[in-house]
Amino acid sequence: MKIIPKGPLRGEITVPGDKSISHRSVLLGALAKGRTRVQGFLAAADCLATIDCLRLLGVPVTVKGSTVLIEGAGWEKLQEPGNILDCGNSGTTARLILGILAGQPFFSVVTGDESLRRRPMGRVTEPLQQMGGCFWGRDRGRLLPLAVKGGSLKPITYHTPVASAQLKSALLLAGLFAEGTTTVIEPQQSRDHTERMLKAFGAEIYQEGTTVAVTGRPKLAGQEIEVPGDISSAAFFLVAASIVPGSDLMLRNVGVNPTRTGIIDVLQQMGARLKLENRRLVNGEPVADINVQSAELQGVEVRGALIPRLIDELPVLAVAALFARGRTLVMDAQELRVKETDRIAAVAEEFAKLGAKVLPTDDGFMIDGGQDLTGGTADSRGDHRMAMALSIAALRSSAPVTINDFACVSVSYPDFGETLEKLQK
Ligand code: S3P
Repeated sequence: MKIIPKGPLRGEITVPGDKSISHRSVLLGALAKGRTRVQGFLAAADCLATIDCLRLLGVPVTVKGSTVLIEGAGWEKLQEPGNILDCGNSGTTARLILGILAGQPFFSVVTGDESLRRRPMGRVTEPLQQMGGCFWGRDRGRLLPLAVKGGSLKPITYHTPVASAQLKSALLLAGLFAEGTTTVIEPQQSRDHTERMLKAFGAEIYQEGTTVAVTGRPKLAGQEIEVPGDISSAAFFLVAASIVPGSDLMLRNVGVNPTRTGIIDVLQQMGARLKLENRRLVNGEPVADINVQSAELQGVEVRGALIPRLIDELPVLAVAALFARGRTLVMDAQELRVKETDRIAAVAEEFAKLGAKVLPTDDGFMIDGGQDLTGGTADSRGDHRMAMALSIAALRSSAPVTINDFACVSVSYPDFGETLEKLQK
């Protein structure tokens, strides 16, 4: 893909459905009794991988555009899959499915693509083993492919070593099958979409601070779900319009759950001109329209509890930092090293190919702003968010940017290239 910087971004878009909420809508639909209809579903590779897994578990799912119907028969009716469950590039699919499989009395095998087979699964399989699930795989059951034999689970109280919504959700889903209360305590709060949606499906959830508990064996009933736009996809355009002078964009129907809005808080702190309008609640999830206009940005320090609230936005936040005045420092973000690729190394090394200077650290990066990018050729490393962050950096480069392996944007934002093109006209 070749990106040619053209000038201001103007117009109005609706970003695709939230990836995290889309995964959860079909997973809970499959565990519930009765029909679940999902509208605004993100029909992109990651969420379609979740649907493929559910079909192999015997759940009828139909997809028509962004509408999905799941005919749930209840979690007791899941079937032993006749083939390997392939989660593709999707960490959310793998970790949440492992939570469900731990509570099923049958045998299954879970795998993923080259990237996912390198990512840590022990953080999920260790507590699930404590609950009674059995896992076999490389590195003592810590890497995909994993063979799973579930069974009757016992509830646990678990302090997670990292703030990870995938880990928390895997344990809450497993907790549905255990008799009694399963409790998860996080070091910082991660996104809470599972909790909100479990409540909507009829589960009993207790939440206080960074503690969440679920009561096992609930009756879950099929629901009508409307998925809001993904703030993680909107983030590319929030940064793009902020850094390209003369831009003015309207992003409609963006999910603004407070566990996800770190990027809005940080951009506002940097001096971005963002306005949230028409705030509303859809299926228990806060939603708004966001107007963004270009602005002079200032460097910022990002660390601590903010990190889980914008973990997926850090590659594009690095782009904002390149063109801000002063220094930006990101700390406590060592989780970036175990994403679709090592995003600390990728941001430092791939942006360098365009003439940028990013200093990588163990747990983040440091960027002195006011940089001039020369353009050139960079590689996404098969990571959708790197491909999109590089595209946004290209908008302020003095020459065109070629991004190798751009096709991976299909993981979360299949129309990203066309949308960017349209807004630059
Ligand atoms: C997600 C949680 C986050 C995030 C990922 C989606 C989810 O991962 O980075 O893109 O849907 O629960 P971790 O749970 O590993 O932090």
